Amino acid sequence: MRSTLNVLRKKLAAGRKISMLTCYDAGFAKVMEDAQVDCILVGDTLGMLVQGRDSTLPVLLQDIAYHVSCVARGTRRPFLLADMPFGTYQESPQQALRNAVTLMQAGAQMVKIEGGAELAPTIELLTRSGIPVCGHIGLLPSHVHALGGYRVQGKEDAEARRIVADARAVEAAGAAMMVIEAVPDPVARQVCEAVQLITIGIGASVACSGQVLVLHDMLGLTATPAKFVKNYMVGAPAGGDAVLQAFRRYAQEVETGAFPGVEHVYGMAAGNIGTPYGNQSGS
Ligand code: KIV
Repeated sequence: MRSTLNVLRKKLAAGRKISMLTCYDAGFAKVMEDAQVDCILVGDTLGMLVQGRDSTLPVLLQDIAYHVSCVARGTRRPFLLADMPFGTYQESPQQALRNAVTLMQAGAQMVKIEGGAELAPTIELLTRSGIPVCGHIGLLPSHVHALGGYRVQGKEDAEARRIVADARAVEAAGAAMMVIEAVPDPVARQVCEAVQLITIGIGASVACSGQVLVLHDMLGLTATPAKFVKNYMVGAPAGGDAVLQAFRRYAQEVETGAFPGVEHVYGMAAGNIGTPYGNQSGS
């Protein structure tokens, strides 16, 4: 039986945090299930990691739908989220609904969209239509050109206030979960205190309800990983099940709050996070 938002909320109420990994295919997804990873995100990072492109922008709705169906066929238990790619939800709430339906029909249980208060009408329509929504605030990878690179967000007071306001607006619109990416630890903590929904950090704070890492990053396949990445293959026992053990250790460390450590989060003076998600170069 596939996990649900209620199962995740009960786990949190019992004092255990939620683990999430990105995944794009049935084979790795099955190993994640065996390792008791709670949630799988079919992220638009597949643009870099699967398609060899240099950003998430060229990823199409059908690309995500295809990989969601692969992950759904490979698993029975983890909660399954799908990223809505760049250009598939910004035009209007109706455009977002049409495209979210495609991802839900492919097997997703929740869709993730990048942005803040400006997405409130879209989040309202999706949730009213029975589609659970995960927001994504802080560093928005699909805004890389507008941001001038992959940079930590929220270091200035005004920016930090806007991130907290965005989190409140996304929650008020009906989102049930929110990814907080590359935000200084003190600002991420303010966000977590300001909202009740499930918060999932990546380069944010151990105060979040859970954590997400990108598959290739946590398996040590990224040449120059961002500070928020921990390579779980380091110290994994040699042998056929090294990847299973790496996923298992990640899930356990997230559950108990052992990950992220202070070395994986940003202070207020942080800057560029480099070129994350596999450091691929392409087109
Ligand atoms: O697309 C993705 O993999 C993501 C993670 C960086 C959270 O959104």
